[in-house]
Amino acid sequence: MAALKETFAARVIAWQRHAGRHDLPWQKTRDAYRIWLSEVMLQQTQVATVLPYYERFLKAFPDVATLARAAPDEVMAHWSGLGYYSRARNLHRAARDVVEHHGGRVPQSAALLETLPGIGRSSAAAIAAFAFGERAAILDGNVKRVLCRVFGIERPMQKQSTERELVGFALGLLPEHGIERYTQGLMDLGATVCTAKAPRCPDCPFANDCIARASGRIATLPAPREKRITPRRKASFVLARHSQSVWLERRPERGIWGGLWCLPASALDARSGAGEAQLLERFMKAPAQAGVASEFARFEHAFTHFTLLASVFAIDCRREDDFGRDGRWVPWRDCASLGLPAPIKTLLLDVQQGLFR
Ligand code: ADE
Repeated sequence: MAALKETFAARVIAWQRHAGRHDLPWQKTRDAYRIWLSEVMLQQTQVATVLPYYERFLKAFPDVATLARAAPDEVMAHWSGLGYYSRARNLHRAARDVVEHHGGRVPQSAALLETLPGIGRSSAAAIAAFAFGERAAILDGNVKRVLCRVFGIERPMQKQSTERELVGFALGLLPEHGIERYTQGLMDLGATVCTAKAPRCPDCPFANDCIARASGRIATLPAPREKRITPRRKASFVLARHSQSVWLERRPERGIWGGLWCLPASALDARSGAGEAQLLERFMKAPAQAGVASEFARFEHAFTHFTLLASVFAIDCRREDDFGRDGRWVPWRDCASLGLPAPIKTLLLDVQQGLFR
């Protein structure tokens, strides 16, 4: 084990050189902003999903100053569909912080990067390693899995004390030189070989050293989280429409789909069905609504903590009445370019294409 610890980094680096990923767009730069953006987009999201968003985002916001100046809606529109929208809000806030408090220059150490909104300990380490060559230790879910398996570490994963222990362990493995390749190698190993399900052990540089493999514990290390049963909650949406436009409202900054444009909705994060009567009443009392609201579509959407069972009520309006709140009539053709939650965008595009009437 001592020998394994001492040779670990060198072997990761050697493996990365011939079997790792080399052509990802954020690997071809030392621009800290570009690397930062990639790390934020890659949180909870796979490379293949991120690639087109990354390119489009950088076209619209090629540097931190441009991003800082952008309107929140514009930023959300470029994130729409990627999910976990607080990442985009934090990124935007952080860009403004960089301009206001760091002279427009991305902070050059993991410790300072971590003070920015949306950059956690591991992301800060990754950015500092890739952009500035700092010897900092990443420790995301993939890397924890690699370390727990190779070194046979059996600890409850959610615990703070485990996290601290693993950070200490990861620091002890860092190489003197080549932190960039080592960091990328660890990520690549976790993402392409030492995967959660069906790992490709014969392709692993540690196939003959891995304690989990030798002791038949690949399937149980790291100790799996307890499975939570996610509750199901009902909520209602109103599709108030006119021939050319649809009524959309901005979601409150805090909470689900915070800051995004959305169909008016009953409470999404309270108990099932809360606020449905008030929602429908607000729209039914408007003078120019024609006909009663009818349930028109249903969809399900899985959040991390619950599954949303949505009913959509259509109200055909004779005029573009003002329904209050933070809402406005949006021409159908503009919907696709607004920052909308993915299932709402899908629904509106389906309506536009005549899949519903
Ligand atoms: N996941 C997080 N950061 C990554 C990176 N730099 N390359 C590939 N996958 C990643």
